[in-house]
Amino acid sequence: MSRKKLIRFAKNTLATNVLEVGKPLYENIKGKWNDSLFFNSNPIVLELACGKGEYTVGLAQVFPEKNFIGIDVKGDRIAVGSQQAFDQGLTNVAFLRTNIEFLQNFFAEGEVSEIWITFPDPFNLKKRIRRRLTHPHFLEKYRSVMCSEGLLHLKTDNRELFDFTLEELSAFGFRDLESTYDLYESDLKAEHFGIKTRFEQIFTEKGFPVHYLKGRFSRQNDTA
Ligand SMILES: C[S@@+](CC[C@H](N)C(=O)[O-])C[C@H]1O[C@@H](n2cnc3c(N)ncnc32)[C@H](O)[C@@H]1O
Repeated sequence: MSRKKLIRFAKNTLATNVLEVGKPLYENIKGKWNDSLFFNSNPIVLELACGKGEYTVGLAQVFPEKNFIGIDVKGDRIAVGSQQAFDQGLTNVAFLRTNIEFLQNFFAEGEVSEIWITFPDPFNLKKRIRRRLTHPHFLEKYRSVMCSEGLLHLKTDNRELFDFTLEELSAFGFRDLESTYDLYESDLKAEHFGIKTRFEQIFTEKGFPVHYLKGRFSRQNDTA
């Protein structure tokens, strides 16, 4: 393992804004993010597959009245966002190192008000489709932790993943849907708050358009 990674892992163990295996709050945070970590009652926003957490940190600056949690399985990446949040004195930022598969172990029903999914791995091979973060298997988890008016956002350069997601969300009774295949040429441009993730920068420099959607889940009993 590289020295840089080892240093970042060591920083995570000391960082109060990083929750990972071995830390006391990691096992006991479900339903208590605001009481035990943020010490306020502000809405909670997640960035899934956050990588270095560009949205988590960027949105936290724009919206100090909300709490932001970046989630990724890769500790060396979230260490970067964690450090930036410290350097900027942001107290409304945290990072959770886990597989998103286990989201419901960390968030209670209705605890989350908004979810951003930023440039997730497309997993285009048929045998890997279940690993897509917008597979129904994951959408069900998001719906269960979100409050009734909760907003879901997706940004990706991958057309196959985007179309797949639109289809799956439609089957979920997703509502108030707004979407574009070219965010920067659309009326929804303001929705990205001028923030570009690392992967977004790589893809836009290569000339790929950014696809974006947002909308709300219907509650399970709304459709009954
Ligand atoms: C293509 S990168 C995008 C990172 C960042 N959002 C960006 O746009 O720069 C995808 C990220 O998703 C994370 N990831 C993929 N599947 C995951 C899962 N099931 N649970 C947690 N993280 C996951 C990877 O570790 C990786 O950091």
